[in-house]
Amino acid sequence: MKEIEMAGDVGEWTRDEYVISTDRSRLDIGAIHRFLRDSYWAAGIPIEIVERSVQHSITFGVFKGTELVGFARVISDCATFGYLADVFVLPSHRCRGLSKWLIQVILRHPDLQGFRLWLLATRDAHGLYGRFGFKTPERLDRYMEIRQPNAYIGRDSGE
Ligand SMILES: CC(C)(COP(=O)(O)OP(=O)(O)OC[C@H]1O[C@@H](n2cnc3c(N)ncnc32)[C@H](O)[C@@H]1OP(=O)(O)O)[C@@H](O)C(=O)NCCC(=O)NCCS
Repeated sequence: MKEIEMAGDVGEWTRDEYVISTDRSRLDIGAIHRFLRDSYWAAGIPIEIVERSVQHSITFGVFKGTELVGFARVISDCATFGYLADVFVLPSHRCRGLSKWLIQVILRHPDLQGFRLWLLATRDAHGLYGRFGFKTPERLDRYMEIRQPNAYIGRDSGE
């Protein structure tokens, strides 16, 4: 496995035939949209919202050749706090350690160090994130949210 390699703002990591890259221009927005619109957490998300979320996040694409096979993004001020979102690996590339590698690369990224807080939400992947130190918040009563479960209803432009 080739460790971190940064050229300007773009980072690239290689393992076997897979590459993780922070180069947004390599991302296949259509493939990300196809996965996310059917996901349990972003069901029905319009492609324009995916595009906007990508523009304003630090993105990590997992590629086999030019094909996007996995993805994650971090919403962050790059100083104190990061929110890990939209993590997925396409079914045909699962169970090869790609998501563990992806989370490891993200948590070691030089722009994402020394944070007071990392957050994420998951329905069933606690075991994956737990190995990297994520825990159920001790003081849930200190967290508040505005939740809009119907935010995307009637907005999907399809593809
Ligand atoms: C979750 C997901 C990203 C895992 O990707 P992957 O590349 O197949 O995972 P890896 O091969 O790196 O292995 C993940 C490890 O976490 C564990 N794990 C814990 N919860 C898991 C879950 N819900 N799904 C998959 N693996 C999970 C696995 O058992 C494995 O541990 P092991 O190596 O000790 O066996 C992938 O299954 C996926 O895209 N699922 C649908 C989207 C999703 O649920 N994303 C997470 C939202 S927070």
